[in-house]
Amino acid sequence: MNIQWYPGHMTKAKRAMQEDIKLIDLIIELVDARAPLSSRNPDIDELGKGKGRLILLNKADLASEGANAAWSSFFKEKGFQVLKIDARQKASLKQINPVIQEACREKIERDRRRGIINRPVRAMVVGIPNVGKSTFINSLAGKAAAKTGNKPGVTKGNQWIRLNKQVELLDTPGILWPKFEDQEVGLKLAFLGSINDEILNQEELAAELCAFLSKNREGLLGERYQMEESGKSSYELLEGIAVSRACLTKGGGYDLSRASKLLLDDFRGGKLGRITLEMPPASEPVQEKEE
Ligand code: G4P
Repeated sequence: MNIQWYPGHMTKAKRAMQEDIKLIDLIIELVDARAPLSSRNPDIDELGKGKGRLILLNKADLASEGANAAWSSFFKEKGFQVLKIDARQKASLKQINPVIQEACREKIERDRRRGIINRPVRAMVVGIPNVGKSTFINSLAGKAAAKTGNKPGVTKGNQWIRLNKQVELLDTPGILWPKFEDQEVGLKLAFLGSINDEILNQEELAAELCAFLSKNREGLLGERYQMEESGKSSYELLEGIAVSRACLTKGGGYDLSRASKLLLDDFRGGKLGRITLEMPPASEPVQEKEE
């Protein structure tokens, strides 16, 4: 399967990001905990030089606990502050304030030396599409969040949301573009639903997911869809899912289109379990067991 997708507005998005970054102290970068490297765009490291950095492993509820811990250590070792969250759950965001302060410690100390005390940290949320940026902003800021209004230098009608006395958040997230370093990355992003499904052949994608799961999580498909898994090709597995879930055409053939959608929805919704698609470079690939 060949995935080539470059959003046309990429250059414009990058320019807008450069402008917005000038206004902030901290970049809150969301990645998908199921594929934290594939779902991040490393260009942000260059764009965000000198800023406080916080990485949120979002959708941690859908990723394996062991893998979440491994990814947290991986990013912490690289100097990022890190939190695992489920952006839909306000409770999982409770720990964010102290982490924000820690991520901006240098700036806060620099301010203090200059006699500036209690100036709020200004933050911006960034991430590739579908990673959970809007959900996160809504959960964190809520409807009640007081907007502090336009400030000089804020272009495009951007607004600052005051989260508390210490933190202000730019109300619109920065959209990063996925970076296709290789086909594997593109494929993982497609599994996660981060690439517009309309430009992809769903049956091919579902067959690729069958191949990936039967290779990396042997037995999982067989168990979930109550079918014999071993020795089957990816399309035979898809046909097995069609039979198991009664996705059949009027003539009695396989309705692979429906079976594909069903499998992709099951995977994306966590119905196949908490599955992480990639592990930090130095550790073992996806084989690790669920706790
Ligand atoms: P974006 O702004 O970065 O593009 O992402 P957005 O917040 O729109 O979130 C994309 C989808 O991911 C949404 O689901 C959202 O509910 C879901 N989501 C966000 N954070 C989490 C998380 O931590 N855990 C889980 N399990 N899901 C999360 P959707 O199906 O597209 O929309 P909806 O049905 O929730 O309305």
